[in-house]
This record gives sequence, structure tokens and C-alpha cells, in this order.
Amino acid sequence: MTETQFTPRVFSGIQPSGNLHLGNYLGALKRFVDMQGPEFQTVYCMVDLHAITTWQDPKDLAHSTRELCAGFIAAGIDPEHSILFNQSQVPEHAQLAWVFNCVARMGWMQRMTQWKDKAGKNQQNASLGLFAYPSLMAADILIYHATHVPVGDDQKQHLELTRDIAIKFNNDFGVDFFPITEPVIEGTATRVMSLRDGSKKMSKSDTSDMSRINMTDDADAIAKKIRKAKTDPDALPSEIDGLEDRPEARNLVNIYAALNDQTAEQVLADVGGKQFGDFKPMLAELAVEKLSPISSEMARLMGEEAEIDQILARGAERARTIASPILQKTYEIVGMVGAGKS
Ligand code: AMP
Ligand code: TRP
Repeated sequence: MTETQFTPRVFSGIQPSGNLHLGNYLGALKRFVDMQGPEFQTVYCMVDLHAITTWQDPKDLAHSTRELCAGFIAAGIDPEHSILFNQSQVPEHAQLAWVFNCVARMGWMQRMTQWKDKAGKNQQNASLGLFAYPSLMAADILIYHATHVPVGDDQKQHLELTRDIAIKFNNDFGVDFFPITEPVIEGTATRVMSLRDGSKKMSKSDTSDMSRINMTDDADAIAKKIRKAKTDPDALPSEIDGLEDRPEARNLVNIYAALNDQTAEQVLADVGGKQFGDFKPMLAELAVEKLSPISSEMARLMGEEAEIDQILARGAERARTIASPILQKTYEIVGMVGAGKS
């Protein structure tokens, strides 16, 4: 297949479930902003259908969706340039997901580590949606024929599955219809770790709020969380090799680098030899400098609910103009009578 037949298009999504945190910002949002430009058409989505694979209080879901939209815009997504919307308002996602449920195999889904982690020991009691989650994710991407998908490291396996679904669909029906999407997992912050435990990723679901920096945290909270972040007693090394077997130290250096648009090597060249007692205040100052304009803009936008709802509605309309013909063509390929006629 020649990938050049597809318009260069970026798609990515974030779940509106709970707070946006620094891992989401550095691993996803900030990189979404970097990909806005003449090279790609950019499509970004609040994946509310994914969020309900685990229980969401309806009021909280609506609040989180708007807050996430505010976060996208505050971080630098321009809703005039990028297409910004919530997933449920473009029904073609769920419609294509059904077709993909019939392409993907049970065994593929059972291998997904996120399914195993989230369902835990009680798989029988997990929702069917949680199991089928990656098939909906493949539909999110492929309903736009997206060629590039920026995500954090934890989504790599889901993107491989998306490629497998596209390949199997193309083979089964003898077409070159769906692109083989490129994962874009780049930079120093593709896996931001918990501030309390360098072996666990920073996550919305961690019970300890001290483990993560939320995008809505104020300057004092950010400084306190960094001051209390777990570290080791040694000074920082000048070379990257010196971070081996020091996951907490590596995490703080990577966070500093990503916030400051530097590499970890560049950061260590400056701070090598410093103790954490000196480095942590530098990191806190940088984090506050970069994050507080975003959190105050988020707060301002949250006061403009009608404006947010309008942005989302307009985004969904624009998204449908791309998604609808691709769904119709898919139905035609599959043999659904009436497809493509409206
Ligand atoms: P989620 O909050 O699970 O919807 O994730 C949204 C995006 O943030 C995805 O691209 C994730 O890969 C990314 N992400 C989530 N947690 C982290 C983390 N700790 N480090 C880097 N990226 C992350
Ligand atoms: N599964 C992703 C996460 O939890 C969110 C997501 C849903 C997504 N659909 C997507 C990311 C499509 C990229 C592309 O982080």
C-alpha cells in the first residue's frame, strides 16, 4: 500500500475522566500543540464513550468533558485550526467500532495489558465496553484515515492493534482502504512516573494525590508535591548513564527537560553535581512558570460554558464531514445495501 494516498492527518484523544495531570500534558497535550501547523490536519477528541467503559457519574462526566476542552485550548490548541470535539457527538466512531468488533479477534483483545490491568482479577464483572475499548480506539483513528497518532508510551499496544485491524480489514475485503497508522511516541516525557514511586506511571486513578501534579493545582500545591517527591540521597549526575537504576531521579530530570523543551542530556550538563535540595526548587519554579498560565486560562474558560459547548458542537460538525463519507465507503465495502446513497 502506498501511504502517500492519504492526507497527512493527526488524530488523538484523551478521556474526560478525572483530572488532567502533568503526564497527560507532557505526554500528550503539549505534543498535540507541537503538531499543529501546515504539515498536518489535526483532529483532537475528548473520548467520552471511552470514559464510560468504567462508571462515570453523569454530572462529573459533563464537567470533565468541558474541563478537558478548556485544558486543550489553554494548552495552545486553536479550535479554529484543529478540529476539537467530543466523541459521542460524532456517531460514526461507534458505528465503525461495530464493524471493527467483527474484524478484531477475541485473542487480540485478551492480550491487551490495559485490559488486564484495568479489569484486574475480576474480569467477569468488567464491562463489555472495557474489553472492546481498543476496537473503538481503532475506529476513532481510522474513521479519519489518520496517518499519525501522538500518544504516551502506555498506548503503544493499542496502536499496534489499530494497525492489525486496518491490515486485516484491507486483506479480508481485498482493498487498500485504511491507512497503516504511525504511532508518534517521542520526546523525554512519553512516560511520566508517579512522584511517590518511580516504577509506576503518573495516573488519574492513583489514590494518592501527592503522586501527580494536576493541571488545576495552584503554585503552592505544585511546589509542595515536588518538594515531597521521592528521590534518593545522591547528587545529580552530569551524564545520562548516571541515572540508570535511579528511576525517581530520572523522572524529575525528564520532567524538567520536557517542560523546558530540552533533552535530559542538556539538563544534566547544567545541573550535574547539584543535590535535590537545590534541584527541586528549580523544578518547582519551572513547573509553576509553565503550568500556571494554563491553569488560570482553564479556570477562565470554565466560566464560559456556552462558549465551550459551542466550540465542541462546531468541532463535531467539522469532524463529521470527514467521518461520514469514510463510514459510508466502509459500509459499501462490507456490502451494506443503501450505503453511500444519501
Ligand atoms: P488518558 O488520560 O488515559 O486518556 O491518556 C491521555 C493521553 O495521555 C494518552 O496519550 C496517554 O498515553 C497520555 N498519558 C497518560 N498518562 C501518562 C503519563 N504518566 N506519561 C506520559 N503520557 C501519559
Ligand atoms: N486510549 C487512550 C488513552 O487512554 C485515549 C484514546 C481513545 C485515544 N481513542 C484514541 C488516543 C485514539 C489516541 C487515538 O489514553
